[in-house]
Amino acid sequence: MVKATVMALAALLALSALLLRLASGDDLSSVPNPAAGGGRAAQPAPVPPAIPGSGASASAQGQAAAQPVRSANQAAAPVLYTYKVVHEYVHDPDAFTQGLEYDTDCSSGACKDVFWESTGMYGQSSVREVELATGAVLREKALAHADFGEGLVKVDGRLLQLTWKSGKAYWYQTGNFNVAQTTKTPLGDGWGATFDNATNSIVLSDGSPNLSFVDPSTLALRRNVQVTDQGSPVGNLNELEAIDGEIWANIWITDCIARVDPQSGVVKSWLVLDGLHTSLRAKNLAGSHPMDVLNGIAYDPATKRIFVTGKYWPRLYQIEPVLAAAQPTAEQLAQLRSKCISPPMPQ
Ligand SMILES: *[C@@H]1O[C@H](CO)[C@@H](O)[C@H](O)[C@H]1NC(C)=O
Ligand SMILES: *[C@@H]1O[C@H](CO)[C@@H](O)[C@H](O)[C@H]1NC(C)=O
Repeated sequence: MVKATVMALAALLALSALLLRLASGDDLSSVPNPAAGGGRAAQPAPVPPAIPGSGASASAQGQAAAQPVRSANQAAAPVLYTYKVVHEYVHDPDAFTQGLEYDTDCSSGACKDVFWESTGMYGQSSVREVELATGAVLREKALAHADFGEGLVKVDGRLLQLTWKSGKAYWYQTGNFNVAQTTKTPLGDGWGATFDNATNSIVLSDGSPNLSFVDPSTLALRRNVQVTDQGSPVGNLNELEAIDGEIWANIWITDCIARVDPQSGVVKSWLVLDGLHTSLRAKNLAGSHPMDVLNGIAYDPATKRIFVTGKYWPRLYQIEPVLAAAQPTAEQLAQLRSKCISPPMPQ
C-alpha cells in the first residue's frame, strides 16, 4: 500500500516534470535519460530543476511533502550539509569540466598543487594539467573530434579518461599525455571516475543510479552498488570523488553532492551547494560559453581540502561542508529531494 502510494507519487512527479518541460518548449528528445545519458551534450543547460519560486520546484515540493513517513526499518534519513567557501580560484571558463583530480606535481623541482582535468564537448575535449594557484593550463592534449571527454582518475601514476556514450577510455602517461593504451570499461557509457583506496578499485558512474567498482588494471567489473536515498534510487550520478571513506557523487544538473557509503550505496548525507552557481553566474565572468552546471569534485587527502567547479565555470572553489541538519524534518527532506533527485522520466 505504502509502496503503491510512493510509486503513484513518483509517476505523478515524473508526469508533472514532463508537462513542465513540454510547457517550457523543451525538445523531448533532449530529456535526460538516466540509462542512456541522452541529451547531455545537446542540452547542456536544461531548465534548472530547483530555482526557488519556480513552478517546477514548487509543484515538486508540494507533492513530495505529501509522501508518507517511511517506516523505521528503512535506512536512516540522510544528514544535510550546506557549505562555506574557503578559497576561490580562477578556472578556465571555456573548460567544460567532466573530470577533476587533485595532485602535487614535483617534476620541475618545486612542488605545486595541480589538477588533472578532463573536458568534454565534441571538438573541445581535452586532458589537461592545470595549476591550482592561477588556473593556468600548464599542458593540454586535445582529444579526437569523435571523442567527448568524461571522468578522469589517476591510478598508479597513470591517468584514465572516460568518454561519453561509449565504453572507450584512454590511459595516459602523466608526464607527456601520450596514450599508453586505448581500452574499454565494462559500461556502455562513461560519466564519472574515482579511485577507492579502501577496495583498491576504480569506481565508475554512467548516469544511472549504479556505482561500478572495477579492477584498477584490467577494468573488469567487480561489483555494482545502487545508490539510494532511504530506499529510493538516486540517478544521474556524475563526477565522483572518494573522500575519507565515502564516495561523493555530483548529481547531474543539480547543485547537490550525494555522500555515499561505498558498501551499501546508501546516501549518508547530502551536501547542497545552493547559491554557488547562481552567485557566480551573477558576476558575469563567463567566457565564450554560458556557464553550465556544477561538475567536478577534487580532494587533497593530505590537507583535507575539497574543491569543486563546474562546466564552463570561471571559478573553482575550495569549500567546507557545514552541518545544516543532523536530523532533518520531513519537510526539509522533501525540499532536498525535490532539488537533488530528478524525478524518473517515463520509459
Ligand atoms: C590506501 O590503502 C593502503 C592499503 O590498504 C593503506 O596502507 C594506505 O594508507 C591507504 N592510503 C590512503 C590515502 O588512505
Ligand atoms: C545496476 O547494477 C545491477 C546489479 O549489478 C545490474 O543488474 C543493473 O543492470 C545495473 N543497472 C545499470 C543501469 O547499469
